[in-house]
Amino acid sequence: MFNDLSSPAALMATRRSGKPRDMAAPGPTPEQMTRILNAATRVPDHGKLAPWRFVVVPADRREALAALLERAYRAERPDPGKVELEAVRQFAMQAPALVVALSAPAHASHIPIWEQELSAGAACMNLLVATHAEGLVGGWLTGWAAYSDIVRDAFGVPGERIAGFIFIGTPTRELDERPRPDREKVISEWQP
Ligand SMILES: Cc1cc2nc3c(=O)[nH]c(=O)nc-3n(C[C@H](O)[C@H](O)[C@H](O)COP(=O)(O)O)c2cc1C
Repeated sequence: MFNDLSSPAALMATRRSGKPRDMAAPGPTPEQMTRILNAATRVPDHGKLAPWRFVVVPADRREALAALLERAYRAERPDPGKVELEAVRQFAMQAPALVVALSAPAHASHIPIWEQELSAGAACMNLLVATHAEGLVGGWLTGWAAYSDIVRDAFGVPGERIAGFIFIGTPTRELDERPRPDREKVISEWQP
């Protein structure tokens, strides 16, 4: 890794995503994966509803994921081209580890769905931060597959949504630093 992790502040200041297609082994050890997922569940959650959950896709089930994604893709786009199908397969097979994060709101609760979805986003973010803290890199992707009912039904139930496919691994090249927003545009002092 290329980051200075010597303090919690440095950890937060240096975290960034990697491209899953550029991730290689090693992925997280079982102990690291446990710590990463534990951190993901330690998030603000109004009403203690745990309106999210995580489904780990083990390495030996990536082929099954690729088959699922191809079936889902064909259902939406009959007669796909070879290049498209290769991209679908590449998505399923990339990076050493994959966690599918689900937003699983309690629809009957008085807690607004918006707040429950915010909690799911926080859980995904904690997962990424914990990944960085382990000296690994994460990448949060959605894409068409996150919005496919066929894919969602393979991981969750109606009413749940795929918040993201979070890939974890070791970067094979220096991570790009993407432009960050201007402070003045996104941070201000309240003027009553
Ligand atoms: C909900 C969500 C979905 C995303 N889906 C994609 C995606 O499908 N493809 C992509 O290239 N980036 C996607 N991104 C953006 C990547 O995660 C991006 O690499 C990230 O925002 C980089 O910021 P960071 O370095 O601060 O982590 C998504 C981000 C979020 C929050």
